[in-house]
Amino acid sequence: MRPVSPGCGDALRLLAAATNAKAVVEIGTGTGVSGLYLLQGMRPDGVLTTIDTETDRQQAARQAFRAAGFAANRARLIPGPALEVLPRLADGGYDMMFCDGDRRDYPECLEEALRLLRPGGLVCFSGVFAEGRTMATAAPPASVLRLRELLRAIRENRELIPALLPVGDGLLCAARR
Ligand SMILES: C[S@@+](CC[C@H](N)C(=O)[O-])C[C@H]1O[C@@H](n2cnc3c(N)ncnc32)[C@H](O)[C@@H]1O
Repeated sequence: MRPVSPGCGDALRLLAAATNAKAVVEIGTGTGVSGLYLLQGMRPDGVLTTIDTETDRQQAARQAFRAAGFAANRARLIPGPALEVLPRLADGGYDMMFCDGDRRDYPECLEEALRLLRPGGLVCFSGVFAEGRTMATAAPPASVLRLRELLRAIRENRELIPALLPVGDGLLCAARR
């Protein structure tokens, strides 16, 4: 399990602040590194909803948020697979979505983001460089094929304004018009 890099974390904190985010959904809580950056950028009354299949990691994240001084009600930690949890979240209820779970789920996460984000909301996908393999041609793994599918879907969607930020292992962001 790899947390976001400091550069990626800074970008997430900036984007959460720039969108004046009150409700953020994160896929891939891990031990809470990206969550801490997001909470720092969000409004002081903002709530981070964060999803992970591993409850022990979420427990560590909960402790990290508390140790950093964030009240317990600032983070809602939901255990389970992203594609089972996301459909339960409210339409148009989120300012920002950060995806850092299973790369093979990214195309479906984009579909969910289009439903969950308010107009002007932002979706960000971590790890889109796939350590340099995204455009490699020889026998790409399923995760790389799914990343290419994601890139195509974002490029072709007129509702989205994308930018690929060269931080960490590539942070692909798109604002919903
Ligand atoms: C790269 S780590 C997340 C790191 C975290 N964002 C950070 O910066 O601290 C990926 C996480 O996604 C979780 N994960 C993997 N597949 C998932 C799925 N289908 N649904 C939700 N979480 C998943 C893993 O358990 C792991 O904790």
